[in-house]
Amino acid sequence: YDYDLLVVGSANADLVIGVERRPGPGETVLGSDLAVHPGGKGANQAVAAARLGARAALLARVGDDGYGRLLLDSQRAAGVDTVGMLVGGAPTGVALITVDPSGDNSIVVSPGANARLTPQDVRAAASLFQASRVVSAQLEIPLETVVETVRSLAFDSRFVLNPSPAGPLPAEVLAACDPLIVNEHEARFLLGDSAGPAPEDWARALLLRGPRSVVITLGAAGALVAEGSTTSSVRVESPRVDAVDTTGAGDAFTAALAWRLSLRESLAQAAAFAARVGAAAVTRQGAQDSFPTADEVFAR
Ligand code: RIB
Ligand code: NA
Repeated sequence: YDYDLLVVGSANADLVIGVERRPGPGETVLGSDLAVHPGGKGANQAVAAARLGARAALLARVGDDGYGRLLLDSQRAAGVDTVGMLVGGAPTGVALITVDPSGDNSIVVSPGANARLTPQDVRAAASLFQASRVVSAQLEIPLETVVETVRSLAFDSRFVLNPSPAGPLPAEVLAACDPLIVNEHEARFLLGDSAGPAPEDWARALLLRGPRSVVITLGAAGALVAEGSTTSSVRVESPRVDAVDTTGAGDAFTAALAWRLSLRESLAQAAAFAARVGAAAVTRQGAQDSFPTADEVFAR
């Protein structure tokens, strides 16, 4: 394999404003100076993996505009292979992000060119799929593009999905996930009223929906790992850190986990490493700018 990880997903310009508190309906508040960062869950995953040392490629679509160039430049600077980055069809996707003093964010995404990443684009990238040991996706691109992604996997490559923002998943996509990576919100969305009280219940119930394995991220409480072949789930710790900005931490977690799986680590080992990467990412501003190198992770 030429690539440890192929990311199929979104690329956005993140327009970030720090706020003391978020405005309610009809209310105006003043915030910090505007910061513009490269972002998008797909672009973030590719950069996070490459910064850790993975051989990563990104299949995504940006506009023929300044934000699109910002995203191409940030991928290249991180060492991501950009042969799969397509340009044009609509303006680059934009994310409007507010970050509060506790480091929590609220995000509204305007998909722009991400909505024009088509199943045909996936088919045209067949050689990238054949060259990739692990393929990851999120849900900021059309669902039919994610469906075509699982149909395009090389026969022994592994698929990792973070279904964010939460949306319904066809059985064909669920069955391909190894693992399905969800936070509490996404787990509750997928399970609806049948969600039990504890993460262990969600893991068990999600496995019954068809994925080969499940990882539930629990923020500062770490993560929970469950595989189809086992009946019990395993808890993974997260290091204690002071949160500055959680933006992109989930993307860094997913990318780190996918990379360690490409190195044939167990799911529990990969999740433990990913939790350390996610924790490092919350200690710094922004998404991609906050992602650590492998040396920084091991030095902590
Ligand atoms: O997961 C964080 C990302 O979500 C941001 O970079 C923003 O672009 C949105 O896609
Ligand atoms: Na961050």
